[in-house]
Amino acid sequence: MEAHPYPAEPADSPWLESLPVQPLLTSEFDADPGAVYGRLRRQYGPVAPVGLMGVPVWLVLDYREVLEVLRNESQWRRDIRYWRARAEGRLPHDWPLLAGYEVRQTMFMDEEEHRAARGTLHSALRPFQEARSPQGWELRAAVAGYADELVGVLAAESGTAGFADLGAQYTRPLLLMVTTKLFGCPVELGDELVMDLWRMLDGGPDAGPATGRALAAMTRLAAHRRARPGDDLTSYMLLTDPKLTDEQLGRELFMNAVYLNDITGNMVMNTLLEVLRGNATVRRSLSAGQLGETVNRAALANPPVANMCFRFAARDVRLGNFRVRAGDAVSPSAAAAHQDLLAIGASPMVGSAVSTRAHLGWGAGPHQCPSAARELGGLIVATAVGRVFEHFGRAELTLPPDQLPWRAGPVVRGLKVLPVRYELSGPPPSVPRPREAAAPEAATDTNARGLLAALRRLMFGGKKAT
Ligand code: HEM
Repeated sequence: MEAHPYPAEPADSPWLESLPVQPLLTSEFDADPGAVYGRLRRQYGPVAPVGLMGVPVWLVLDYREVLEVLRNESQWRRDIRYWRARAEGRLPHDWPLLAGYEVRQTMFMDEEEHRAARGTLHSALRPFQEARSPQGWELRAAVAGYADELVGVLAAESGTAGFADLGAQYTRPLLLMVTTKLFGCPVELGDELVMDLWRMLDGGPDAGPATGRALAAMTRLAAHRRARPGDDLTSYMLLTDPKLTDEQLGRELFMNAVYLNDITGNMVMNTLLEVLRGNATVRRSLSAGQLGETVNRAALANPPVANMCFRFAARDVRLGNFRVRAGDAVSPSAAAAHQDLLAIGASPMVGSAVSTRAHLGWGAGPHQCPSAARELGGLIVATAVGRVFEHFGRAELTLPPDQLPWRAGPVVRGLKVLPVRYELSGPPPSVPRPREAAAPEAATDTNARGLLAALRRLMFGGKKAT
């Protein structure tokens, strides 16, 4: 590990607000965030002050400090009412990331309230987690089936060899289909939901309205399933905690949709990318059939939740070379911590390689990704990646890796597109005929096939699906 310039915080450790902060989100950060983390670490040590769209926060860069922030719940709070700048009215009212932080759900709760909300999700997810339960079996079969159908659609439209964007034509529709199935969504939830989740997480200019739309869609879904319970996560959450109002459940579904759609989708894309760009250890684990290890290695190289949500200091405390004041916001960076971890692993002082399970791709501590969700996320990623390489005899990137376009945002490290040239290894999987006119029942109920038809129109720019 590098020696940091200060062995202890300076006696007159400055307040965050008084420091001249550098904006984090620059074109350099989009292209090469690792270079930015490295520079901040050299300049400030394990914790650096940065500006996020004009608001100063601490970015936690080193593995040890990131773990401390994630694990020490009594010092690092999630409830945004601890945030001093917010309490004092110093945040710009149109600050793009605020809308997401104002949605009060499990992630932004502490202690008993948090444990209870997590428990509800865990119980509701459990049937889908177990491969031997009917729900778990059905979901597993559905994920593999959707993946095959999407490859079939691709082959029907572009041939058994050709060009594809594995983002728009595979990963995004796949995760929408899985969400539709798991949440028990009516078909009208579509690509616009995914885009709204992007807008919220990336803090675009319309992040506020996008958050409102996604939240409203999830609240409608909660009301729909209260009236018509089914074999889905939404209904199971109501069964576990019947006191949940539609608004509360809508907020929980909203947050789960972020993880299930956007984060899981990005884990699929980042894993595909590591294989396609020739990451030797990722490829080796894939060809050995160790898909869990493939996902761990890809998460270590490129975690989709690059910078985790804020924690707020409960009391003044030393962190890195600074004194963080009560109410300051800190963002633990998994991506920077992995850089640090890999540097420790490569050090001759340590010798052996770092265990891939030490990655923070799932977070750590009381707010880490719940075990049932991790299992589900891992299953989806492994299936999605596995089916691509099962069907593709050849696949290569059509752009050099350093020219791939990345989303610009503080939280997610995700590709906008993943363009490949492919060749199928065998006959294409068959594609079910879309039901052009869905029966009234199906139109308001879970209908992944109807969704597939809609997605085909989306993917192929209005060409009539066959
Ligand atoms: C490969 C896919 C996934 C990855 C990489 C991932 C990653 C993460 C990370 C890093 C966190 C912690 C964030 C923080 O501390 O700020 C988290 C929390 C969470 N994840 Fe996942 N996740 C994945 C899939 C899922 C799925 C499929 C679901 C639900 C169906 C889910 C539900 C949640 C929930 C509810 C939390 C908040 C837990 C809390 O605050 O107590 N995740 N996830």
